[in-house]
Amino acid sequence: MKRVFSGIQPTGNIHLGNYIGALKQFIPLQEEAECFFCIVNLHALTIPRDPEELRQKTRKVAGLYLAVGLDPNKSTLFVQSHNPAHSEAAWLLQCVTRMGELSRMTQYKDKGKGSDSATAGLFSYPVLQAADILLYQTDIVPVGEDQKQHLELSRDLAQRFNGQYGDVFKVPEPKIGKTGARIMGLDHPEKKMSKSADSEYNRIELLDEPDKIVKKFKRAVTDSENEIYYDPENKPGVSNLLAIYSEMSGESIESLVNRYQGKGYGHLKLDTAEAVIQVLKPLQERYEKVMESGEVERILSEGGQRAREVSYQTLLNMQQAMGLA
Ligand code: TYM
Repeated sequence: MKRVFSGIQPTGNIHLGNYIGALKQFIPLQEEAECFFCIVNLHALTIPRDPEELRQKTRKVAGLYLAVGLDPNKSTLFVQSHNPAHSEAAWLLQCVTRMGELSRMTQYKDKGKGSDSATAGLFSYPVLQAADILLYQTDIVPVGEDQKQHLELSRDLAQRFNGQYGDVFKVPEPKIGKTGARIMGLDHPEKKMSKSADSEYNRIELLDEPDKIVKKFKRAVTDSENEIYYDPENKPGVSNLLAIYSEMSGESIESLVNRYQGKGYGHLKLDTAEAVIQVLKPLQERYEKVMESGEVERILSEGGQRAREVSYQTLLNMQQAMGLA
């Protein structure tokens, strides 16, 4: 059986980009692979955080994992810091990582902006991500397009380590969706939808109320033409609406474009909002139930146990290969 690993940071509020690019892809994989879905709270520390808020957001992502349909009887759901193997493996991998490769990571360049006060954690962040993935002998990593470069580094590190110390790691493959791999910000459709964008009009959060969803879509930036067709480069706003609508309803972009011939952008915005509400409403109801059930802590505790069991073998193999054990 193939292994799947993916993770989400418990920072900001989980949004439609995270859902379409990642969470939605996770669900069917549970039926065909052994899956590990992690809440990567160590990654969240690369930027200063309020400790209590981090604790709450970690629990919130666990609730959302369950609400979207991840099943703890099929998948291992766990918190990164509950498995110390991740930080240890990250250190060992840092010792085969080159400064140059980390300096070229676009996420670091965007967030660190070459500043002297950026943390060393932010710089070595992608190595911790490689440790997450490689510890589980992962075959497939479902992610959005923004993680492509990090996945390439994970593959390079696996290959380099294997070459230097012997065959310890499987080399993972990213799994990146077609239309939904890069959902754009509603207020700035030339940039991706993001947890950290200043304006809340940038994103639809998974726990947004229907009224708010409608309001945000109504304000979505489009263009001055009045024709609906799919061209992400020249019509990023309208193309983003079409991608979201298609991903939420299951109808192809081509069919949507045909159906909306001669109709105005206002129509498309409202109908996209409605398609999103149809998916998010039941999800929000499940979320409320899950959070009240008192089950979250037990599920994470069992997940942590399973994660430790599976990953310790790889960590031991790394230690032996490097002359530590
Ligand atoms: P994070 O928390 O930023 O995002 C979680 C997942 O959501 C995807 N995503 C998007 N997909 C489409 N459109 C968007 N606008 C959009 N924004 C985010 C991301 O690609 C990701 O799949 N470094 C990772 C977390 C991580 C990880 C890992 C992922 C740590 N270790 C191991 C996979 C495997 C991150 O910050 O994701």
